Amino acid sequence: MNTKDLIDTAKAMVADNKGLLAIDESYSTCNKRFAKLGIPETEELRRDYREMIITTAGLDESICGAILFDETVHQHLKDGSSFVDVLTFNGIIPGIKVDGGTVAMAGHPGEKITEGLDNLRDRLTGYAGMGLRFAKWRAVFTIGKGIPTQACIEANANALARYAALCQEEGIVPIVEPEVLMDGDHTMAHCFEVTEQVLHTVFNQLNSQGVMLEGLILKPNMIVPGLSCSKQESIVEVADATVKCLLRTVPAAVPGIAFLSGGQSSELASARLNAMIVRFKSKLPWELSFSFGRAIQQPALDIWQGKETNIPEAQKALYHQAMCNHAARQGEYMIEKEIF
Ligand code: 13P
Repeated sequence: MNTKDLIDTAKAMVADNKGLLAIDESYSTCNKRFAKLGIPETEELRRDYREMIITTAGLDESICGAILFDETVHQHLKDGSSFVDVLTFNGIIPGIKVDGGTVAMAGHPGEKITEGLDNLRDRLTGYAGMGLRFAKWRAVFTIGKGIPTQACIEANANALARYAALCQEEGIVPIVEPEVLMDGDHTMAHCFEVTEQVLHTVFNQLNSQGVMLEGLILKPNMIVPGLSCSKQESIVEVADATVKCLLRTVPAAVPGIAFLSGGQSSELASARLNAMIVRFKSKLPWELSFSFGRAIQQPALDIWQGKETNIPEAQKALYHQAMCNHAARQGEYMIEKEIF
């Protein structure tokens, strides 16, 4: 493991008020999003879609890293250049989702465990050889009656830590993503409590497995009420609760925290990040950034519709959404300009 390279890469992933773009949807997730819009679920259209995204002019003004999926890292632009090379040439660090998705956890109804540790060392060696410099592993926790259980939290935290250790051994920066889902009618206080417990357990496991905190990026959820909770807290309340939870749980050695959007609207995700920066930036030990999927892509996907003629408009929307988050990282995002 080259410690200095790992630390440099982790710092570069949260530098210059830029963020990460998650375009690592698995076959089934990407297909589901296509199906909703009536876009045919083919390998060629998934390739076309990713080409539209990564060839967006000026994307590097706001994005410093892109998380890809295995299918995408083996694909090429129409002109023959590989996606990985194009990103690297444009100053965007290429990364890769390496978890194998979630399955039902045995003996724990309603809970999921993330798979993918088998052969991970070999896969990481292959990806490092292709020029991929960071990886992502996502664990999910559902809030419900009696869940998540400690058993589910510990099993997923252990897998996250073992994945992170393998990544660092290979010189790849791990993005550690424990996601407490927004689905449900739970309160923001309940989300806080569960997220705090999850993050404590994750960092305990990272310590036990000897993972170097300076060489990883944490990708958590924000502290938000469930999507169907009757009380939806204000942007400022969400910002305050999120920072309070992270200050309690995330060691100062971690260089950066890059939020997932998790189903928030593009505007709310940006506005909440913006509020955290405005209210707390000077007091935080780590960079606060974004690693959004839907919150950056969705408007562009809605416009694209699988049609070549829509590419210029879709790219305009993608560029705009990414720049909104670049502004949010500087405390300069104005939600009013977006929704009125
Ligand atoms: P969302 O921002 O759409 O939640 O996606 C981020 C991600 O990478 C989920 O694993």
